[in-house]
Amino acid sequence: MSSITLIGTGNMARTIGTLAVAGGNTVEVMGRDQSKADDLAKALGGGATTGKRGAVPAGDIVITALLYDGVVPVVAEYGDALAGKVIVDISNPFNPTFDGLAHSEQTSIAQQVAKVAPASASVVKAFNTTAAARVRRHEQRWRFEPVPFGAEMHVERHDIAASSAAAGRRRSTERARPVDPVTGPLARATLLMFQAGVADLILAVHHLACPPASAQRWLTRLRLASTGGDDRRG
Ligand SMILES: NC(=O)c1ccc[n+]([C@@H]2O[C@H](COP(=O)([O-])OP(=O)(O)OC[C@H]3O[C@@H](n4cnc5c(N)ncnc54)[C@H](OP(=O)(O)O)[C@@H]3O)[C@@H](O)[C@H]2O)c1
Repeated sequence: MSSITLIGTGNMARTIGTLAVAGGNTVEVMGRDQSKADDLAKALGGGATTGKRGAVPAGDIVITALLYDGVVPVVAEYGDALAGKVIVDISNPFNPTFDGLAHSEQTSIAQQVAKVAPASASVVKAFNTTAAARVRRHEQRWRFEPVPFGAEMHVERHDIAASSAAAGRRRSTERARPVDPVTGPLARATLLMFQAGVADLILAVHHLACPPASAQRWLTRLRLASTGGDDRRG
Protein backbone atom coordinates (compact mmCIF):
# COMPACT_ATOMS: atom_id res chain seq x y z
CA MET A 1 0.00 0.00 0.00
CA SER A 2 1.06 3.57 -0.57
CA SER A 3 1.14 6.76 1.45
CA ILE A 4 -0.69 9.57 -0.28
CA THR A 5 -0.95 13.26 0.51
CA LEU A 6 -3.76 15.22 -1.08
CA ILE A 7 -3.14 18.94 -1.43
CA GLY A 8 -6.63 20.38 -1.92
CA THR A 9 -9.93 19.76 -0.23
CA GLY A 10 -12.44 19.92 -3.08
CA ASN A 11 -14.36 17.49 -5.23
CA MET A 12 -11.40 15.52 -6.60
CA ALA A 13 -9.53 15.42 -3.28
CA ARG A 14 -12.62 13.86 -1.73
CA THR A 15 -13.14 11.44 -4.64
CA ILE A 16 -9.53 10.26 -4.85
CA GLY A 17 -9.20 10.27 -1.06
CA THR A 18 -12.24 8.02 -0.72
CA LEU A 19 -10.76 5.54 -3.21
CA ALA A 20 -7.33 5.70 -1.57
CA VAL A 21 -8.75 4.96 1.88
CA ALA A 22 -10.92 2.15 0.48
CA GLY A 23 -7.78 0.69 -1.08
CA GLY A 24 -6.07 0.57 2.31
CA ASN A 25 -3.61 3.40 1.60
CA THR A 26 -2.41 5.90 4.19
CA VAL A 27 -3.94 9.29 3.42
CA GLU A 28 -3.03 12.79 4.55
CA VAL A 29 -4.95 15.94 3.58
CA MET A 30 -3.50 19.44 3.27
CA GLY A 31 -5.30 22.61 2.21
CA ARG A 32 -5.02 26.35 2.34
CA ASP A 33 -8.04 26.29 4.66
CA GLN A 34 -7.06 24.08 7.62
CA SER A 35 -10.65 23.58 8.75
CA LYS A 36 -11.60 22.20 5.32
CA ALA A 37 -8.62 19.83 5.48
CA ASP A 38 -9.65 18.66 8.96
CA ASP A 39 -13.25 18.13 7.81
CA LEU A 40 -12.19 16.15 4.76
CA ALA A 41 -9.78 13.92 6.72
CA LYS A 42 -12.58 13.21 9.19
CA ALA A 43 -15.03 12.43 6.40
CA LEU A 44 -12.55 10.11 4.66
CA GLY A 45 -12.01 8.10 7.83
CA GLY A 46 -9.62 5.16 7.65
CA GLY A 47 -7.11 6.98 9.86
CA ALA A 48 -6.72 9.87 7.39
CA THR A 49 -4.74 12.71 8.94
CA THR A 50 -4.14 16.37 8.18
CA GLY A 51 -0.87 18.16 7.66
CA LYS A 52 -0.02 21.84 7.90
CA ARG A 53 0.10 23.74 4.63
CA GLY A 54 3.69 23.95 3.34
CA ALA A 55 5.08 21.26 5.68
CA VAL A 56 6.80 18.14 4.34
CA PRO A 57 3.94 15.88 3.16
CA ALA A 58 3.72 12.52 4.90
CA GLY A 59 2.84 10.79 1.63
CA ASP A 60 5.37 9.50 -0.87
CA ILE A 61 2.77 10.35 -3.50
CA VAL A 62 1.50 13.93 -3.46
CA ILE A 63 -1.63 14.67 -5.46
CA THR A 64 -2.23 18.34 -6.22
CA ALA A 65 -6.04 18.34 -6.33
CA LEU A 66 -6.19 22.06 -7.11
CA LEU A 67 -7.60 24.31 -9.77
CA TYR A 68 -4.93 24.63 -12.44
CA ASP A 69 -3.91 28.19 -11.60
CA GLY A 70 -3.03 27.11 -8.07
CA VAL A 71 -0.90 24.11 -9.05
CA VAL A 72 2.39 25.72 -10.08
CA PRO A 73 2.36 28.35 -7.28
CA VAL A 74 1.58 25.70 -4.66
CA VAL A 75 4.32 23.33 -5.86
CA ALA A 76 6.73 26.29 -5.86
CA GLU A 77 5.57 27.27 -2.36
CA TYR A 78 6.22 23.74 -1.01
CA GLY A 79 9.62 23.73 -2.73
CA ASP A 80 12.10 21.34 -1.12
CA ALA A 81 9.34 19.83 1.02
CA LEU A 82 8.48 17.87 -2.15
CA ALA A 83 12.00 16.47 -2.63
CA GLY A 84 11.87 12.80 -3.64
CA LYS A 85 8.06 12.79 -3.92
CA VAL A 86 5.94 11.61 -6.81
CA ILE A 87 3.81 14.65 -7.64
CA VAL A 88 0.55 13.87 -9.43
CA ASP A 89 -0.98 16.82 -11.27
CA ILE A 90 -4.65 16.25 -12.11
CA SER A 91 -5.57 19.73 -13.33
CA ASN A 92 -7.25 20.82 -16.53
CA PRO A 93 -5.75 24.10 -17.71
CA PHE A 94 -8.84 25.56 -19.36
CA ASN A 95 -9.06 29.20 -20.35
CA PRO A 96 -11.78 31.34 -18.70
CA THR A 97 -14.27 30.61 -21.51
CA PHE A 98 -13.59 26.83 -21.39
CA ASP A 99 -12.98 26.65 -25.13
CA GLY A 100 -9.22 26.27 -25.15
CA LEU A 101 -6.07 25.94 -23.10
CA ALA A 102 -4.94 28.51 -20.58
CA HIS A 103 -1.38 28.20 -21.82
CA SER A 104 0.35 27.86 -25.19
CA GLU A 105 0.34 24.52 -27.00
CA GLN A 106 4.12 24.32 -26.57
CA THR A 107 3.86 23.50 -22.89
CA SER A 108 1.65 21.82 -20.29
CA ILE A 109 0.88 22.37 -16.62
CA ALA A 110 2.77 19.16 -15.82
CA GLN A 111 5.86 20.51 -17.59
CA GLN A 112 5.53 23.77 -15.70
CA VAL A 113 5.19 21.85 -12.42
CA ALA A 114 8.34 19.86 -13.27
CA LYS A 115 10.20 23.17 -13.74
CA VAL A 116 9.42 24.43 -10.22
CA ALA A 117 9.51 21.05 -8.42
CA PRO A 118 12.73 19.81 -6.79
CA ALA A 119 14.94 17.88 -9.22
CA SER A 120 14.53 14.72 -7.14
CA ALA A 121 10.73 14.78 -7.49
CA SER A 122 8.90 12.97 -10.30
CA VAL A 123 5.89 14.59 -11.93
CA VAL A 124 3.02 12.50 -13.24
CA LYS A 125 -0.08 13.67 -15.12
CA ALA A 126 -3.25 11.74 -14.29
CA PHE A 127 -7.03 11.90 -13.85
CA ASN A 128 -7.52 15.20 -15.68
CA THR A 129 -9.65 13.76 -18.49
CA THR A 130 -11.48 11.49 -16.09
CA ALA A 131 -14.38 13.26 -14.42
CA ALA A 132 -14.96 12.76 -10.71
CA ALA A 133 -18.21 10.91 -11.42
CA ARG A 134 -16.26 8.37 -13.51
CA VAL A 135 -13.66 7.93 -10.80
CA ARG A 136 -16.45 7.29 -8.28
CA ARG A 137 -17.87 4.60 -10.57
CA HIS A 138 -14.51 2.84 -10.33
CA GLU A 139 -14.97 2.85 -6.57
CA GLN A 140 -18.12 0.84 -7.15
CA ARG A 141 -16.08 -1.66 -9.24
CA TRP A 142 -17.53 -0.41 -12.51
CA ARG A 143 -15.33 -0.17 -15.58
CA PHE A 144 -12.97 2.79 -15.43
CA GLU A 145 -14.05 4.78 -18.45
CA PRO A 146 -12.25 7.77 -19.87
CA VAL A 147 -14.20 10.78 -21.03
CA PRO A 148 -13.64 11.26 -24.75
CA PHE A 149 -12.82 14.79 -25.79
CA GLY A 150 -13.28 16.04 -29.34
CA ALA A 151 -14.34 13.99 -32.33
CA GLU A 152 -14.03 10.24 -31.98
CA MET A 153 -11.88 9.88 -35.08
CA HIS A 154 -10.30 12.76 -36.91
CA VAL A 155 -9.35 12.03 -40.54
CA GLU A 156 -6.97 14.19 -42.56
CA ARG A 157 -5.70 13.91 -46.13
CA HIS A 158 -2.59 15.74 -47.33
CA ASP A 159 -1.48 15.69 -50.96
CA ILE A 160 2.28 15.97 -50.96
CA ALA A 161 4.03 17.10 -54.11
CA ALA A 162 7.57 16.75 -52.90
CA SER A 163 10.92 15.07 -53.44
CA SER A 164 11.55 11.84 -51.57
CA ALA A 165 13.74 13.63 -48.99
CA ALA A 166 11.01 16.15 -48.23
CA ALA A 167 8.42 13.33 -48.18
CA GLY A 168 10.54 11.51 -45.59
CA ARG A 169 10.67 14.63 -43.45
CA ARG A 170 6.90 15.04 -43.77
CA ARG A 171 6.41 11.43 -42.62
CA SER A 172 8.68 11.92 -39.60
CA THR A 173 6.91 15.13 -38.60
CA GLU A 174 3.53 13.45 -38.82
CA ARG A 175 4.71 10.42 -36.81
CA ALA A 176 6.04 12.68 -34.08
CA ARG A 177 2.84 14.78 -33.83
CA PRO A 178 1.44 14.06 -30.36
CA VAL A 179 -2.15 13.22 -29.43
CA ASP A 180 -3.39 15.62 -26.79
CA PRO A 181 -5.91 13.90 -24.50
CA VAL A 182 -7.25 17.24 -23.26
CA THR A 183 -7.98 18.96 -26.54
CA GLY A 184 -8.44 15.74 -28.51
CA PRO A 185 -9.18 14.09 -30.81
CA LEU A 186 -8.10 10.87 -29.14
CA ALA A 187 -7.82 9.09 -32.49
CA ARG A 188 -6.40 10.53 -35.67
CA ALA A 189 -5.91 9.02 -39.12
CA THR A 190 -3.67 10.92 -41.51
CA LEU A 191 -3.40 9.95 -45.14
CA LEU A 192 -0.28 11.27 -46.82
CA MET A 193 -0.76 10.99 -50.59
CA PHE A 194 2.61 11.26 -52.31
CA GLN A 195 3.08 12.28 -55.93
CA ALA A 196 4.64 8.94 -56.91
CA GLY A 197 1.34 7.19 -56.23
CA VAL A 198 2.48 6.05 -52.81
CA ALA A 199 0.27 6.65 -49.78
CA ASP A 200 1.07 6.45 -46.10
CA LEU A 201 -1.68 5.92 -43.56
CA ILE A 202 -0.59 7.09 -40.12
CA LEU A 203 -2.82 6.20 -37.20
CA ALA A 204 -2.36 7.96 -33.89
CA VAL A 205 -4.59 6.68 -31.09
CA HIS A 206 -4.34 7.64 -27.45
CA HIS A 207 -4.47 4.72 -25.03
CA LEU A 208 -7.54 6.35 -23.46
CA ALA A 209 -9.40 5.59 -26.70
CA CYS A 210 -7.83 2.21 -27.44
CA PRO A 211 -5.75 0.17 -24.98
CA PRO A 212 -2.35 -0.99 -26.33
CA ALA A 213 -3.41 -4.67 -26.58
CA SER A 214 -6.45 -3.75 -28.70
CA ALA A 215 -4.32 -1.43 -30.84
CA GLN A 216 -1.88 -4.28 -31.45
CA ARG A 217 -4.68 -6.59 -32.63
CA TRP A 218 -6.06 -3.85 -34.82
CA LEU A 219 -2.67 -3.23 -36.45
CA THR A 220 -2.13 -6.96 -37.04
CA ARG A 221 -5.49 -7.24 -38.77
CA LEU A 222 -4.83 -4.12 -40.80
CA ARG A 223 -1.44 -5.47 -41.90
CA LEU A 224 -2.97 -8.81 -42.91
CA ALA A 225 -5.80 -7.09 -44.74
CA SER A 226 -3.37 -4.87 -46.66
CA THR A 227 -1.23 -7.82 -47.76
CA GLY A 228 -4.22 -9.98 -48.67
CA GLY A 229 -3.69 -12.35 -45.71
CA ASP A 230 -6.39 -13.95 -43.65
CA ASP A 231 -7.44 -11.19 -41.26
CA ARG A 232 -9.73 -13.37 -39.15
CA ARG A 233 -6.83 -14.69 -37.07
CA GLY A 234 -5.37 -11.26 -36.26
N1 LIG B 1 -14.18 17.61 -10.88
C1 LIG B 1 -13.81 16.75 -11.81
O1 LIG B 1 -14.62 15.97 -12.36
C2 LIG B 1 -12.38 16.68 -12.22
C3 LIG B 1 -11.90 15.53 -12.88
C4 LIG B 1 -10.57 15.42 -13.20
C5 LIG B 1 -9.70 16.48 -12.90
N2 LIG B 1 -10.19 17.61 -12.31
C6 LIG B 1 -9.23 18.67 -11.99
O2 LIG B 1 -8.96 18.53 -10.62
C7 LIG B 1 -8.68 19.80 -10.07
C8 LIG B 1 -9.55 20.00 -8.83
O3 LIG B 1 -10.92 19.92 -9.26
P1 LIG B 1 -12.07 19.87 -8.19
O4 LIG B 1 -13.29 19.47 -8.92
O5 LIG B 1 -11.62 19.11 -7.00
O6 LIG B 1 -12.17 21.43 -7.82
P2 LIG B 1 -12.79 22.08 -6.49
O7 LIG B 1 -13.82 21.20 -5.90
O8 LIG B 1 -13.14 23.47 -6.87
O9 LIG B 1 -11.55 22.12 -5.48
C9 LIG B 1 -10.45 22.91 -5.78
C10 LIG B 1 -9.48 22.91 -4.64
O10 LIG B 1 -8.37 23.73 -5.03
C11 LIG B 1 -8.14 24.69 -4.02
N3 LIG B 1 -7.59 25.87 -4.67
C12 LIG B 1 -8.13 26.57 -5.69
N4 LIG B 1 -7.30 27.57 -6.06
C13 LIG B 1 -6.22 27.46 -5.26
C14 LIG B 1 -5.02 28.22 -5.14
N5 LIG B 1 -4.77 29.26 -5.95
N6 LIG B 1 -4.13 27.85 -4.20
C15 LIG B 1 -4.39 26.81 -3.37
N7 LIG B 1 -5.51 26.06 -3.44
C16 LIG B 1 -6.40 26.40 -4.37
C17 LIG B 1 -9.48 24.93 -3.37
O11 LIG B 1 -9.27 25.46 -2.10
P3 LIG B 1 -10.45 26.28 -1.33
O12 LIG B 1 -11.51 25.28 -0.99
O13 LIG B 1 -9.75 26.83 -0.16
O14 LIG B 1 -10.93 27.30 -2.32
C18 LIG B 1 -10.02 23.50 -3.34
O15 LIG B 1 -9.47 22.79 -2.25
C19 LIG B 1 -8.97 20.84 -11.15
O16 LIG B 1 -7.74 21.28 -11.68
C20 LIG B 1 -9.76 20.07 -12.18
O17 LIG B 1 -9.51 20.54 -13.49
C21 LIG B 1 -11.50 17.72 -11.93
